[in-house]
Amino acid sequence: MSNSVFPNDFLWGGALAANQTEGAFLEDGKGLSTVDLLPAGEKRRAYMEGHIPTLELQNDLFYPSHEAIDFYHRFREDITLFAEMGFKALRVSIAWTRIFPTGEEDEPNEQGLAFYDSLFDCLLEHKIEPVVTLAHFDVPVALVEKYGSWRNRKLVTLFEKYAKTVLTRYRDKVKYWMTFNEINMLLHLPFLGAGLIFEKGDQELQIKYQAAHHQLVASALAVKACHEIAPEAKIGCMLAAGMFYPYTSNPDDVKAALDRDRESYFFIDVQARGYYPSYARRFFEENDIQIDMQPEDQEILKANTVDYIGFSYYSSRTTSTDPEVLAKSTAGNVFHSVSNPYLKKSEWGWTIDPKGFRITANQLYDRYQLPLFVVENGLGAIDVPNKEDEIEDGYRIEYLKQHIEQMAEAIKDGVDLIGYTSWGPIDLVSASTGEMKKRYGYIYVDRDNQGNGSLERKKKKSFHWYQKVISTNGLT
Ligand code: BG6
Repeated sequence: MSNSVFPNDFLWGGALAANQTEGAFLEDGKGLSTVDLLPAGEKRRAYMEGHIPTLELQNDLFYPSHEAIDFYHRFREDITLFAEMGFKALRVSIAWTRIFPTGEEDEPNEQGLAFYDSLFDCLLEHKIEPVVTLAHFDVPVALVEKYGSWRNRKLVTLFEKYAKTVLTRYRDKVKYWMTFNEINMLLHLPFLGAGLIFEKGDQELQIKYQAAHHQLVASALAVKACHEIAPEAKIGCMLAAGMFYPYTSNPDDVKAALDRDRESYFFIDVQARGYYPSYARRFFEENDIQIDMQPEDQEILKANTVDYIGFSYYSSRTTSTDPEVLAKSTAGNVFHSVSNPYLKKSEWGWTIDPKGFRITANQLYDRYQLPLFVVENGLGAIDVPNKEDEIEDGYRIEYLKQHIEQMAEAIKDGVDLIGYTSWGPIDLVSASTGEMKKRYGYIYVDRDNQGNGSLERKKKKSFHWYQKVISTNGLT
C-alpha cells in the first residue's frame, strides 16, 4: 500500500507467552517451571516479588498457568484465526522446561521439541513469521531448588545449552529471536523475572544485580550462538519500556526521572552497546553492590550485541521527589509511578498515554540507533457480551488506534520500526494478576478467573478492525 508510512514488509501481528497460553503444564515430559508456582489471587504479588513459602504446589491454591487457554492443544484453531486477521508475525515463547524439564538433562526432551516444530510449521503454513522469545518469565523449578536460580553462575551455562539446542533445531523455521522478555522486570518482580527467592537478611539489591549480570552474559552468549548457528536470523533484547516523566520542572524531579529511566536502560545499554554504562559504577558504589564477573565476561558482552531492540509499551510513568505527590502512586502499575494529572488510566490503574509511545520510541532510537520492534502493546479490559452475545470492544479499538497512530508518527520522525505485535491477540492469563477477566484479545476465550468455561473461541469487534488495519498496512 503505497501511501502507508509503514514499510511493505512491516510485521503486524500479536504476542503470546507459553505460560500464559499453553497449559498442559506437565504434559509430554514438561518439567515444573517457576510460573507454574504462581497462584491466582492476593498471594500472587508476594510470590512474584520472591517471597515464597514453599516450592511445592498447594492444594488450596489455583494456578492459572496449569491449563491457561489450552493453546497446547488448540493452537491450530487459534492460528487459523490469526491468519484470518492477516497476521504477518506471531510472537511466542518456548517453555525452557518443555525442552529441558529440570534444566540439566544431557539430552533434550524430544516431545517438547516436536511440539514447537508443529507450532512453527503451522505458522509457516499460514505465512506467519514466528518471533520467538527464549525466556518469558520462566526458569525450571529444579534450578531454583538446586542453585537459587539466576543468582548462580551455573545458570549461564545451562541457558546457553538450552539456547543452542533450540536455535539449532529451529534454525530453518525461525528468523526472529529474543533472549529475555522484559529483562528489566527482574528488579521489580524478581521471582517472575529471574526465579529469585529472598530470605530474611538477604541483600536483595546485590542479589538482583548479580542475577542481572548472569542474564546479561547468558543473553550475549545466546546472541553469539544465534549468529553462529543461524546467521540469517536476527536476535534482539526485550525491554519493558515506557519513559519516566518528571512530575514538575523542578530539577530534582527531572533528575529522579533520569535515574528511573536508567534503571531500565541499564540492561539495554549493556545488550546493545556491549558494556556497562558509566553511570552504573557510581550506583553500584553507593549501594554497596559488587558484581562478581569472570575474566571473559567483558569480552563476551562486547562481542555479542543485539540486532534489534524489542520492547513492550503499555504506559508512560511519572516520578516526583515530593513526598506528598509520591504518596499518590498508582497502585496498578508494576513500575511505581505517580499519577499523571494529564492522563487517564485503565480499569487496572495503568496510565494510558499514546503520545508517550511515540516519545519512548524516539528516545530508544536516539539512544541505540538500532531497529525497534514493538513486541507488546494493548489494553487489559473487562469484556461484557451484549444481548446478541457479541463483544463490542470499542474501548480496545480506541486504545490500539491511538497507539498505532502514534507509531506512524514515530516512523515519520525517522524511527526504524520493523513490526508491531500487540499483546494477547487471544485472551490469556494476566501475568501480573493471574486473572482471565483482564482481557487483551481480538478473540474471546470462554474461561473465567476460577478456571470455569468451555474454552470456546469467539471473534470480538476488534477482530474485524485489526484485520482491516493489517490489510491496509496501517492506513485505516
Ligand atoms: C508484560 C509481559 O509485562 O505485560 C506479559 O511481558 C504480560 O507477560 C503483559 O502479560 C501484560 O501484563 P498483564 O499483567 O496485564 O498480563
